[in-house]
Amino acid sequence: MTQKEITLTVNGTERELTVEPRRLLVHAIREDLDLTGTHIGCDTGNCGACTVYKDGQAVKSCLQFAVQADGSEVTTVEGMADLPEAGSGRDDDLHPIQEGFREMHGLQCGYCTPGMIMAGKALLEENPDPTDEEIRERISGNLCRCTGYQNIVKSIQYAADVYNDREPPEPQAEAEAAADGGTPMGGGGTTGGCGCDGPAGSGATVDLEHDYPTTGAGPASPADDPTSDGGGDAR
Ligand code: FES
Ligand code: FES
Repeated sequence: MTQKEITLTVNGTERELTVEPRRLLVHAIREDLDLTGTHIGCDTGNCGACTVYKDGQAVKSCLQFAVQADGSEVTTVEGMADLPEAGSGRDDDLHPIQEGFREMHGLQCGYCTPGMIMAGKALLEENPDPTDEEIRERISGNLCRCTGYQNIVKSIQYAADVYNDREPPEPQAEAEAAADGGTPMGGGGTTGGCGCDGPAGSGATVDLEHDYPTTGAGPASPADDPTSDGGGDAR
């Protein structure tokens, strides 16, 4: 089959590819560029796992041919920590949205997470201080089968705090340790959804009940959230 030469700027680096016209952008990203952080959950545009940030918009890369992206600038999850706003939170090595997902326990298996992060990036570029409802609307094309959406919304709100120079919530264990002089692991507190000690390797527990001030009508707690059972639409 005829091959086409295309050029993509991916995570700030110009990359030249030779692809068949039928090659999907997601396959070019994962297989030709070896950037496997962009996931494939359905290949039919339903799950959002393949979402990347392309020319200022979140796009599902399974719904585009690679040749349609010729000349585009694409950011994948691998490039998030190199963006100008990276390191503006508490962790110098992470983008605030990545940090938010870690601190607010926005993931369990993590399969949906790169797509959620890229959808969150596109939202915050357009609207740096969204309501819960606006976040839910924006991630409604991204499915998570593990967490429900409450903590994903909180993760993006955490990043919005950073974007707006507000203090994001402390992980609960650190707050407790600071209060009683103990160690983060010794103070009890709320653990990850599976009963472990929080996100893998973090050694920290998180404040799942932090009440974000919003102007929207989003639910105040997981108990009020009809979508927090892990299924259904994010809205
Ligand atoms: Fe693209 Fe599911 S893999 S939307
Ligand atoms: Fe498992 Fe979202 S964390 S699908």
